[in-house]
Amino acid sequence: MKSELDTAFVRSQFPVFQDSRTSDFAFFENAGGTYVPKQVINKLNDFMITKKVQPYGDFGPSIEAGSEMDNSLSKIGELLNINKDEFMIGPSTTMNMFLLSNAIKTWLKKDDEIIVTNQDHEANIGAWRKLSEYGVKIREWQFNPNTADLEIDELKRLISKKTKFICVCHTSNVVASINNLKEIINLAHDNDIKVVGDGVAYMAHDIVDLKDLDIDFYGFSLYKTYGPHLALLYGKKELLEQTKNLNHEFLAGEVPYTLNPGGPNHEELGCLSGITDYYETLYHHHFGSSDLNLHHKSKKIFKLIAKHEEVLMRELIQFLQTKKNIKMIGKKTPSREERMPTVSFTVTNKSSYQIARDAGQNNIGIRNGEFYAWRCLEGLGIEPNDGVVRVSMVHYNTLQEVRRLTEFLDRII
Ligand SMILES: Cc1ncc(COP(=O)(O)O)c(C=O)c1O
Repeated sequence: MKSELDTAFVRSQFPVFQDSRTSDFAFFENAGGTYVPKQVINKLNDFMITKKVQPYGDFGPSIEAGSEMDNSLSKIGELLNINKDEFMIGPSTTMNMFLLSNAIKTWLKKDDEIIVTNQDHEANIGAWRKLSEYGVKIREWQFNPNTADLEIDELKRLISKKTKFICVCHTSNVVASINNLKEIINLAHDNDIKVVGDGVAYMAHDIVDLKDLDIDFYGFSLYKTYGPHLALLYGKKELLEQTKNLNHEFLAGEVPYTLNPGGPNHEELGCLSGITDYYETLYHHHFGSSDLNLHHKSKKIFKLIAKHEEVLMRELIQFLQTKKNIKMIGKKTPSREERMPTVSFTVTNKSSYQIARDAGQNNIGIRNGEFYAWRCLEGLGIEPNDGVVRVSMVHYNTLQEVRRLTEFLDRII
């Protein structure tokens, strides 16, 4: 049993670190999309070679394709403690939120209210704001500009008898504080309000027990959690059953396909179980064999991951704090109880673009901009085009890489 994450072992699971074309590149743009472990790549490759046929037929490759896809659905369900018919796999969280907002449209009457935040990525704002075309009123839960945090008292002030939905991120992709979803959900349910959570910036760093959280709807992008370019949308079964069928007429009642016209990309769905195989591999390496289910095994792995992420964050945040001309966004603590390892900042007298470009020329991958969280940047008083510099780390990043980044920043700032 290991008490620390073995990052050498972790990295050995990702072919990108073994390839001479990419092995020297320090990648810190993980919030834009993570690297993929060999378990996912091998499954995708094998699907494309041996099962790239219409699934669920009665002949060999078609049966295998269907069972590979079903296997992914049950593994992902087990990971999140949800059933196969409580989630759908679509192309992106943006698309899934648009589908959801269309599917619940008929639940709303003129003058009903939806609360969105100004901290979220536009994916969990835009789709809801569009419902104002039908007479729904949008209320904006604004974060405190001094701390960049969403405060529950402000939410209490916004809730009225007409509030039907609260749409809020678990973690912002710029600010990165962990929002207390449990508290928000309890407050919402006490007032007969549904909650739509955006877990996109959260799920590369932890595994949520969606049943325990008791959230009504929750979405995240699988391509930001070590998988292919797909996204998952969960909904409580009894709620999904009340959504409007967006799919073909003859599919009415076939929840969750009713929410997903066109269905998922087959080969990508087929390789999703590669993500859970990867977590199993990490578990086995660190803790040996066990009878725990996938959810609990992954939780244990993510505890080690959190410790490692704190080490990375501490190094970076301490460095940023020593620089008078750097303004870091959000919480200054490296505690994973409070924030995720996505760290955004601006630099006086230096454009964010220049920093990101120079980093790229030094084989360091960071980015600048508003990251589609333009309302968040506006709330922070930052011009969104040049935006912030964002450093987003995950568990395969190393302390050496962070030091390479801070040495680079030290040189150019
Ligand atoms: C917090 C957050 N929510 C939503 C999205 C949108 O995800 P997708 O690209 O799957 O539409 C992103 C993408 O960057 C994000 O960071």
